[in-house]
Amino acid sequence: MSGIIFGKVYIISCHKILKSLQVIILLHAKNLTKHFGGLMAVSDVDIHVSEGEIVGLVGPNGAGKSTLLNLISGIYRPDSGSIIFNGIDITRMPPFKVCKLGITKTFQLIHSFPEMTALENVMVGALFGDRDNGTMKGARNKAIELLRFIGFSSDKIHLPVKHLNLMELKYIQLARALSTNPRLILLDEVTTGLNPKESLQAIDLIKKMRDNGTSVLMVEHIMRVIMGVSDRIVVLDYGKKIADGTPEEIANNETVIESYLGEKYIF
Ligand SMILES: Nc1ncnc2c1ncn2[C@@H]1O[C@H](COP(=O)(O)OP(=O)(O)O)[C@@H](O)[C@H]1O
Ligand SMILES: [Mg+2]
Repeated sequence: MSGIIFGKVYIISCHKILKSLQVIILLHAKNLTKHFGGLMAVSDVDIHVSEGEIVGLVGPNGAGKSTLLNLISGIYRPDSGSIIFNGIDITRMPPFKVCKLGITKTFQLIHSFPEMTALENVMVGALFGDRDNGTMKGARNKAIELLRFIGFSSDKIHLPVKHLNLMELKYIQLARALSTNPRLILLDEVTTGLNPKESLQAIDLIKKMRDNGTSVLMVEHIMRVIMGVSDRIVVLDYGKKIADGTPEEIANNETVIESYLGEKYIF
């Protein structure tokens, strides 16, 4: 009898371990290509993001990082290649449909509604993102919950966002993106313009988002930030993927050192 019970416990434990080891690929873009006139902005790029992963996207200015995020979020349509998200082909879907399926994006330049309050700015996303035709009350509660989650100062939630500083605006943008319930968030240079202390706070928040169930694909210039936060890093150069690996592998990759890092990155 005890042998049977032991066997059962053993099988259940093995199943749990196997499940936790199972890697679920959330996003898989294959052979993506996009040109603007004669310029090849993204050229035959393969990229994937697994569930629970933070993937960093780096490369020199003009390497095609923002274009790649715009292709994934549906803002641009690829000339060729395919994008599969959660088993669904989203290659030619418009951004609002991609967002409804669970991918959201923040922009390199901040977009907000300056006359509206911080709370209202986040409510806009919550109203749009609620798949069950949400109410104003529901959106308001959700926005308050998200502003609390990101650590936004409660005495500023009723201020028009034109009175907020850069860090606060970035946080509002993040909260608005999260309010659409993303399974994958695309971040384009969130820490640009922040001081080192603010950047560290932003990294903590990105990790917290991941721990809360949102996978992350993020473009970032500051090596200290990207090396510290990423599980994996993809490097683009002149629109092509030149490397894909752990932060350690990227730091030691000769091609990356030559074309992007300039010198070896020391951890
Ligand atoms: N809408 C556009 N029209 C024309 N050229 C563009 C457009 N967007 C980006 N590019 C060009 O594509 C290349 C890649 O740009 P981008 O993706 O913004 O690079 P990164 O984000 O890596 O700095 C650059 O040479 C840029 O000038
Ligand atoms: Mg860019």
